[in-house]
Amino acid sequence: MIRSVEEFNRSIKSVMIAEEEIKDRIAQAAKEIDSWYDGTPILLVSILKGAFVFMADICRAVTVPCEIGFMCAQSYYSGTESSGIVNITMDLDRDVTNYHVVIIEDIIDTGRTLNDVVKLLKARNPKSLRIVTLLDKPARRVVKLEPDVALFTIPDKFIIGYGLDYDEYFRNLPYIAEFNQEEL
Ligand code: IMP
Ligand code: MG
Repeated sequence: MIRSVEEFNRSIKSVMIAEEEIKDRIAQAAKEIDSWYDGTPILLVSILKGAFVFMADICRAVTVPCEIGFMCAQSYYSGTESSGIVNITMDLDRDVTNYHVVIIEDIIDTGRTLNDVVKLLKARNPKSLRIVTLLDKPARRVVKLEPDVALFTIPDKFIIGYGLDYDEYFRNLPYIAEFNQEEL
């Protein structure tokens, strides 16, 4: 629990990716998404809460007609193994069979949660399924999962801002920063 603005500010170690840099990469990624579908309508799906800021920006940068959907997912693991059990605490409100689905994710870390969500969505037979992630931390991966697009590949550091939290705080920072572990 953050008790003061001083504590909040001390927790922000340094800016890793500035607002302008994020904006530029989003414009490029949106062009890439547009090029995949050539005007065919798509469904952007993001997993709450972390991806909500990225979703808001990417959906306004693509020009293909798109719908948006949100899911809340929690995965359970024993030790280092994925149980493959993903608990959907909030599901999509429509059938994906008629959609080209693009998952809009905040960060792929171990890859476990997204891997389970991908399995689940594939089982529902969408027309196609692609993954766009804002951040990729490949050094931490424990399951084989490759995004179609990663806007930034980052080292194994705990980061905050632009939707990502520590203890539910910092999601509202407009940039991506390294979290100051000394504040833990
Ligand atoms: P995974 O199942 O290990 O890939 O977990 C990914 C989820 O963990 C992300 O969607 C984030 O919510 C969270 N996460 C992973 N790394 C970070 C980080 O550096 N900062 C904040 N949240 C993170
Ligand atoms: Mg997330």
